[in-house]
Amino acid sequence: VTPDAAWREEVLRLAEERDAVLLAHNYQLPEIQDVAHHTGDSLALSRIAASSTASTIVFCGVHFMAETAKILSPEKTVLIPDERAGCSLADSITAEQLREWKAQHPGAVVVSYVNTTAAVKAETDVCCTSSNAVDVVRSIPEDREVLFCPDQFLGAHVKRVTGRENLHIWAGECHVHAGINGPELAEKAAANPDADLFIHPECGCATSALYLAGEGAVPADQVKILSTGDMLTAARSTNASSVLVATEVGMLHQLRRAAPEIDFRAVNDRASCRYMKMITPAALLRCLREGLDEVTVDQETAERGRDAVRRMIAIGQ
Ligand code: 13P
Ligand code: SF4
Repeated sequence: VTPDAAWREEVLRLAEERDAVLLAHNYQLPEIQDVAHHTGDSLALSRIAASSTASTIVFCGVHFMAETAKILSPEKTVLIPDERAGCSLADSITAEQLREWKAQHPGAVVVSYVNTTAAVKAETDVCCTSSNAVDVVRSIPEDREVLFCPDQFLGAHVKRVTGRENLHIWAGECHVHAGINGPELAEKAAANPDADLFIHPECGCATSALYLAGEGAVPADQVKILSTGDMLTAARSTNASSVLVATEVGMLHQLRRAAPEIDFRAVNDRASCRYMKMITPAALLRCLREGLDEVTVDQETAERGRDAVRRMIAIGQ
């Protein structure tokens, strides 16, 4: 399947026929981002999924994102073009492990990153994404212990920003972001001294970036720890003529569209998520033609996870 004008037309025609809204995450292939009705970060897409009046949601992203949409809108049909599109970060904690962790910290508030399975969300008090994690943790009374899972780098970032000592962090990680490391960032930053650094908080290099700023190797105002959606906002307002981007490489497409005059470069150009890239033009066409793969969440799990997801979309509006 070639993602040409005829493909695009057919995708949009079939979407209309199914009364479907097409959502694409910022890490999707460029042609998928361009055909979608909405492209954005995890939080923005969750909000659109919850408020859309379409009877079907086609989620071009990974499985936990489609599950989250289904939890929020059980009456809607939620489709994902390839249900094998998983997430190494979501796989780094199971509901069983979370139950054991909770048993060790009775009374603690559980904050789970949205990159978790529905079963983990069912054990969670409030979910967050990278764009509102700090606000979510700040909304919890100071004297309550917090269990933050599953991403250790985002957890470390939240702990640093909030200064909260009673925040316990699970040792999970995303294989793509963990692979964007400090030495690579330091080398690229030294070669491009005027460039801004846009760093996703899931990255292994987020701490190193702040260290570089602390040491004066990079001016502090050039180091920005941002979710994918916030990177787009920053791209529109920065005065820098070049930006080093530390996140999954799909992000470069939206950044270049938002600010064509800026030279955006990946800190690690091998940082591609194979799960995100399973959503191919052929898979999207099959999904719309056959109504597959349908994402379901059993009623009890969805009910138990719904409040946590609703709190997430309400915080940081
Ligand atoms: P955001 O879009 O919330 O920044 O999430 C990044 C991510 O890794 C999603 O898989
Ligand atoms: Fe999961 Fe990482 Fe892929 Fe995002 S980039 S979907 S966190 S494996």
